[in-house]
Amino acid sequence: MAVEMEKKIEELGIVPVVVLQDIKDAKPLAQALCEGGLPCAEVTFRTEAAEESIRIMTEAFPQMLVGAGTVLTKAQVDAAVEAGAKFIVSPGFDPEIVDYCLEKQIPVFPGCITPSEIAQAVKRGLRVVKFFPAEQFGGVAAIKALSAPYVGLKFMPTGGVSAANLKDYFGCKSIIACGGSWMVKGDLIASGKFDEIRQMTAEAVKLAGEIRR
Ligand code: 3PG
Repeated sequence: MAVEMEKKIEELGIVPVVVLQDIKDAKPLAQALCEGGLPCAEVTFRTEAAEESIRIMTEAFPQMLVGAGTVLTKAQVDAAVEAGAKFIVSPGFDPEIVDYCLEKQIPVFPGCITPSEIAQAVKRGLRVVKFFPAEQFGGVAAIKALSAPYVGLKFMPTGGVSAANLKDYFGCKSIIACGGSWMVKGDLIASGKFDEIRQMTAEAVKLAGEIRR
């Protein structure tokens, strides 16, 4: 299941990282992402709205790949999965969370910045890790350096990735996808600018397609 998920994420290339303050925005946001050509979202557990938003999105758009981000507790893993999340992302490497997800056979992408964290991920058989916050921790250069000893390991950088530097990230073979919020900024969501979100999403998809051609 994890392999299939990794393949889907690689095909999509970009994972919109979403912070939803209000569940009323979940459906129009999901619609804008789907219409923009990116039927995918990492809905972060930074707000009370996360769990119900995942449920709304997955029910309204079953074809959409909806995962949960900023997952910090086992209870959040349970809540996310129960709501329909297809993958779990956490900002750091928490062995308890990773082991729990592996036990439940839900794909998990923990944040790994250091070789020590990567070693723990690799020991557990993970093939893809999140690299967060990417820009602040060395960006593409750091990922390239880490890829040398950890042959075959794939990264999903998030944090500071945008249309401006997407090309650099996609230039690195060990990066399967980039996460980012540039097309789903909180102010756009809060002010109901879903047309703009759809347009920015479509631009991101177009850009990714051109770069990865
Ligand atoms: C996050 O978890 O906040 C993501 O990494 C998004 O980062 P960004 O807002 O810099 O794209």
